[in-house]
Amino acid sequence: QNYWKIQRTKPDTDMNSQQAGVENATPIFKSGSTPKRYTVTSALPYANGPVHIGHLAGVYVPADIYVRYLRSRGRDVIFIGGSDEHGVPITIKALKQNTTPQAIVDHYHTLIKDSFEKFGISFDIYSRTSSKMHEATASAFFKELYDKGCFIEKTSMQYYDTEQHQFLADRYITGTCPHCHSEGAYGDQCEKCGSALSPDELIDPKSTISGSTPVKKETKHWYLPLDRYEDFLKKWILEGHRDDWRPNVYGQCKSWIDLGLQPRAVTRDLDWGVPLPLPDTKGKVLYVWFDAPIGYISATKELLPEDWEKYWKDDQTKLVHFIGKDNIVFHCIIFPCMLKAEGSYLVPDNVPANEFLNLEGDKISTSRNWAIWLHEYLEDFPGKQDVLRYVLTANAPETKDNDFTWRDFQARNNNELLAIFGNFVNRTVVLTHKYFEGKVPSVSETAYTEADKECLREMCAYPARIADSLEHYRFREGLNELMNLARLGNKYLTDNEPWKVFKTDPERVKVVLNISLQIAAHLAVLCEPFLPFTAEKLCRILNMEKSGWDAAEKEELLQGGHLLNPAEFLFEKIEDEVIQKQLDKLAAIKEANKKNAKPNYEPQKEAVSFEDFGKMDLRVAEITAAEKVAKTKKLLKLTLNTGLDTRTVVSGIAEYYKPEEIVGRKVCLLANLAPRDFKGIESHGMILMSENPDGTLCFVEPAKDAVVGMQIR
Ligand code: MF3
Ligand code: ZN
Repeated sequence: QNYWKIQRTKPDTDMNSQQAGVENATPIFKSGSTPKRYTVTSALPYANGPVHIGHLAGVYVPADIYVRYLRSRGRDVIFIGGSDEHGVPITIKALKQNTTPQAIVDHYHTLIKDSFEKFGISFDIYSRTSSKMHEATASAFFKELYDKGCFIEKTSMQYYDTEQHQFLADRYITGTCPHCHSEGAYGDQCEKCGSALSPDELIDPKSTISGSTPVKKETKHWYLPLDRYEDFLKKWILEGHRDDWRPNVYGQCKSWIDLGLQPRAVTRDLDWGVPLPLPDTKGKVLYVWFDAPIGYISATKELLPEDWEKYWKDDQTKLVHFIGKDNIVFHCIIFPCMLKAEGSYLVPDNVPANEFLNLEGDKISTSRNWAIWLHEYLEDFPGKQDVLRYVLTANAPETKDNDFTWRDFQARNNNELLAIFGNFVNRTVVLTHKYFEGKVPSVSETAYTEADKECLREMCAYPARIADSLEHYRFREGLNELMNLARLGNKYLTDNEPWKVFKTDPERVKVVLNISLQIAAHLAVLCEPFLPFTAEKLCRILNMEKSGWDAAEKEELLQGGHLLNPAEFLFEKIEDEVIQKQLDKLAAIKEANKKNAKPNYEPQKEAVSFEDFGKMDLRVAEITAAEKVAKTKKLLKLTLNTGLDTRTVVSGIAEYYKPEEIVGRKVCLLANLAPRDFKGIESHGMILMSENPDGTLCFVEPAKDAVVGMQIR
């Protein structure tokens, strides 16, 4: 009898599918039992630019891990993706580049689709919302709701560009934000402070097309009265998903619902989008956020023309939306209300939204080119897709925003993938070739020591443990467990030292390598959702068929006598020069942004009297010593000669100046600022700095001949 069968860990309850045949009376799939099938969607990226690591980390890698895992378990799953090809930003881009919206989306759809493919994002279909199928589906969906009386019709005054003869929706209009007073806020959102806006709130509105000041003109639109769905939303989300949705997702939904929902306009006066299927509505289209999520349904129809309905309507189907946190309200409130209004569709069982990924400490920004673009990564790191998948999962912004840094990327490749995973597999395979002509040594169970049995028991626990993480959308945790299995293998080899034992006890080495090879084979199966390219390579090295998750739970994966293929390296060391090149590239972008940044002049403050000004003791001081404050990124501890004394001032300039380059420099000091404590260091005063348009700081420097200790007034 097979050792693995005896030693099986407790049965995985998620595997019990007895319940699957029972009809569920409630329209919502009950979490906890195994559904008959899964519909997994990932947010449709706007086809107005390439995709970057933030997209991958936030949405596509976790969705792909989940889907690959389900497939490995033999579950019935479809994975839906596609491009979101409507919306104002696309038309604005077309206008700027003197081309058509269709040309823009054609270009980026192809680029994005290709990037996803190369990263192994295993969509069953990657569709697009400018397709005929989508237009028909979205249009019919709207018509259905219209016929059922689900909309409110409202006539209102909206901004209109008299030079261009068109209404100005969303990003066609900019102005000053009523909340933070920064310029360039859009009709739907201020990107500076993040507030959601409507065009009416903008101060000093301007058309982004002509630059002219718009006038108000009457127009008619259709609104989805979200307030009518409050009871449904409260019951479904606030009561039904308090425990299984992520706190960030649940919290956002709760605050929206608690604030009270308003009717939302679902139509726009534009000529790019899905035309309204109503008479006399020329020049009106569906709002992009109305049509885009219907894109998931259109894509399913395209994939399964006969069979699509059960993936959206059968209550034994589990619907899961993978999205970024900026999409929560659309996927948890608005789209579900649309589905509910239609009446025959499911609502999602979970919406595992991620927070944001930053890059080297700064928010990723398309307009500032502050991003790592996938198509560029593929050029700079050919064949290293799994390294990025690994780093983005290990560091996934699951519960809070996270930072991608090139140093961390290098360290995780060199110290984890290479030193733990790769090294273990390589030692095992090389030794098997050296001692046993590449054949898995046959061993009898009586040869196992207690430690061997313990190691096998541990190994057999991993499939269920990683499954538990993945079933609950904890991808970082799952990946960490995978690496723990590799650590187990490494430790087992190191403890048993087959390279030493072989001379005296070759029989013992047979056992050690057999067990190590079983671990390597388990790694091949269990790493597949996370690292599909590595899994393929490892299967090739082990000369093993791709087998599923369940096999890894109960069976010996490699039989005695099985012949391996030659060893290959799974990972390569990434050298400092390679990382430096990437850092230099980012530094150049930062430099260029600094030059191009437009100053945002703060309005003048209230008047102060000369007397008030005179209360400040400003003087020329000299920096005589400087050091970084431990465990902080921003703080420097400065020693200053003020003429009167030598004192300590803590200053938040470590990101802009290195300690060694500022010693000897003269600065302006506010000397009588009340002392403050920073990380246990008492600071006596403040150095004056001026802020650049890009947010960086620089010294306000006294002239060369200014004398230390003298007053500034
Ligand atoms: N294009 C949107 C974004 O990038 C996401 C759309 S998701 C879908 O934020 F619901 F429309 F599909
Ligand atoms: Zn603002």
